[in-house]
Formats: sequence, structure tokens, C-alpha cells
Amino acid sequence: MNELNPKIPNHVALIMDGNGRWATQKNKTRSEGHLAGTNHLGSVIETFFNYGVSHLSFYGFSTENWNRPKSEIIGIFSLLTKSIDSELQHIIDMKLKFIHIGSKQRLPGKVRKSLVDMERSTKFSDANGVLSLAFNYGSRQEILEATKRIIDKNLKSIAIDKNVISEHLYTAGIPDVDLLIRTGGEKRISNFLLWQSVDAKFVSTDTLWPDFTGQHVECILNSYNQM
Ligand code: FPP
Repeated sequence: MNELNPKIPNHVALIMDGNGRWATQKNKTRSEGHLAGTNHLGSVIETFFNYGVSHLSFYGFSTENWNRPKSEIIGIFSLLTKSIDSELQHIIDMKLKFIHIGSKQRLPGKVRKSLVDMERSTKFSDANGVLSLAFNYGSRQEILEATKRIIDKNLKSIAIDKNVISEHLYTAGIPDVDLLIRTGGEKRISNFLLWQSVDAKFVSTDTLWPDFTGQHVECILNSYNQM
């Protein structure tokens, strides 16, 4: 919960699901579904932070998404780099710090560069909150990599506690998730922020991601206190 206002979740995690089904319903391609899911991202993000949420983490590309057709993957990468180009100034104006959570390995150079540039450009602008994009992210992979880093440091087992593990995750320094929202109707966690969501409330909404608006955000946040 938010330290200043317990009625507002401090950290919200968002699984954006349903682009493909949205496209099928409208006789469009999956790529058009992803494009529609990208176009309103800025306004949804803005609604969360305007409401008082201070950390928002959203799931752009999972380690499982590598199993999708290559053309779809390339399309998502292209959407990401274009969105970063077009949204960077907006994120700076909103005084948000951007961080990438996930592995940079296997990502094309252009995607890595976009993510790193966005992190650098917003490094000191966290006045209104932190926006984390999970891209090439999977919780098991994250915990595995953290374990390896801890072992590489030759830490004694007695020195390893929950805090040490948290500090070695991609989300080091970010508070645990208070509210996890999934669009598209499924009720699965899908390998997203498992360590960080031990005490999170979970909302699954049938609304498909491209149809999810700031009004949906406000409705969910308004009901957070009654969950
Ligand atoms: C889930 O819909 C969406 C994705 C796997 C990709 C998420 C990407 C975007 C919303 C684009 C914007 C994000 C960035 C970072 C540019 P799905 O394809 O699984 O839908 P389905 O379950 O209906 O098939």
C-alpha cells in the first residue's frame, strides 16, 4: 500500500493480455492488435500515476513469448522501439523514472539500446514514481539469475536472507506488489513477479487490453480498499 495513503496501492503490476483476441474479433491481424494495445499505453500509465500509484510494472514480453511466430516477435520489438522514441519526452515530462526488468541477453541490439537510453534519460527523474517494463522477463529466470549472482559473490549461506535475494532481483529497491491486474479474463500469474507478489491482491478483468482505458483503471483503484 501507499505509505501516505493506505487506500492507494503503492505498487501495481499489470499483465496486458487480449491483443490477439481483440484483433480476431475485429477481423484484424495480431500485429494490429498489438498496435492497438500500444496506442493507449501512455494514457493508461498517466492515469495510474495521477491517481497516486508510485510504482507501475507492466509486462511487455515474457520469456515464454519467444515461442511465438518470429514475425510477431519482430513486430513487438518494433513497437517497443517506436514507443520509446515517441513516449520518452512524455515520461520525462511526467517526472517518472523508467527501468527495464528482465534479461538483456537475446534481445536485438536496437531494442537493448532503446531500453538503456530510456533508463539513462530518466535516471534522476523519479519525483512522481517509477515505471518498470518487464521485457524478456520471467520470474523463474530472474530468481535463477539472482541465485547465480549470489553464489558468484561467495556469500555464506548464513548471510543469505530474503532481503539479500530481493536485492539481487531485477526489481532491487522496488517495493513488493500490492495489486496485480490482468486484462483479457484469464486468472493466471504467468511467471510475473512471483517473488514480489506474495501479498498482492489480484484482479482479473474480462476487458481485452486494447479496450482497457483510464476509466477501467480508476474503477479498479477505487475498489482496491474493499478487496
Ligand atoms: C498479450 O496479448 C500481449 C502481448 C504478449 C504483448 C504485449 C505488448 C503490447 C501490449 C504492446 C505494447 C507494449 C510494449 C512494451 C510496446 P496476446 O497476444 O497474448 O493476446 P491473446 O491472449 O488474446 O492472444
